[in-house]
Amino acid sequence: MTNKAARNLFIFGSLFFFAIFLGLTYDTMGKLDKRAPEITEQVNAGKMVWHKYDCIGCHTIFGNGSYFAPDLTKTTVNKPKGYLKQFLMDPKSANPNASMPKLGIKPDEADNIITFLEWTSKVDTNNWPPKPILATAGGVAGRELTEGQRLYQSLGCSACHTINGIGGTTGPDLTTVGAKRDRVWLAGHFKEPKAFVPESPMPKVEAPDADIEKLTDYMLSLK
Ligand code: HEC
Ligand code: HEC
Repeated sequence: MTNKAARNLFIFGSLFFFAIFLGLTYDTMGKLDKRAPEITEQVNAGKMVWHKYDCIGCHTIFGNGSYFAPDLTKTTVNKPKGYLKQFLMDPKSANPNASMPKLGIKPDEADNIITFLEWTSKVDTNNWPPKPILATAGGVAGRELTEGQRLYQSLGCSACHTINGIGGTTGPDLTTVGAKRDRVWLAGHFKEPKAFVPESPMPKVEAPDADIEKLTDYMLSLK
């Protein structure tokens, strides 16, 4: 290669990649505004309560904070407001096994925090954090998921339940639930948890009967 060719390669090569860099920067800047919804007064008030009680001393949000307790960025996606409010004000009343302390949060403070967490839930984080992986029930590892397993995943059950060590701790461990409950109990409980467990904080499963049946089949296979 002559000196001139080398110089041209250097100049045009640099210009070419600089143009790509500018294009990508422009593209990113255009998307930034749309990634987060508007910050209202109440979202702001919720953030203040978040600091007041030092939630970040135990939890992470957008991955920042302490790893003692679960990340809360997408909390409101699978957990109903009523449950969260009760939990925040008195964790043990919503979940007898809760190890989060009762911090003395007042009702209006709880509402504000929930509004803040609804805001963080809506921020486009490129699907971070990943959804908990479906716990593979005994024997199905490596095979196609059944309909029931797929429903368990898409309905967000693992936000509250654990199967084979994977999932949340809000509700009971389901690893062997099939040995404990029968079809009638399971299907009925899905449609109306409170009819079976009076103070149940579990949300009703909003799905067609056919899906409830598939979910029930899956539960019955867990022994
Ligand atoms: C001393 C540590 C600690 C502090 C401080 C703390 N938490 Fe927690 N929190 C936990 C733990 C541990 C859990 C996991 C569930 C359990 O065992 O209670 C949890 C669970 C939660 C959950 C999920 C409840 C569920 O059933 O999934 C929410 C929501 C929550 N915390 C919000 C907050 C907010 C908001 C604050 C601040 C006002 C806060 N936490 C402060 C330890 C803490
Ligand atoms: C917001 C948290 C939450 C979500 C989401 C949730 N559950 Fe629950 N679930 C609970 C709690 C708390 C209990 C214990 C109280 C009760 O039995 O109603 C429970 C109980 C259960 C039980 C009875 C377990 C036993 O040992 O008696 C089954 C089965 C169950 N859930 C399955 C599911 C399935 C399947 C989904 C998804 C469609 C789901 N849950 C979604 C919180 C939740």
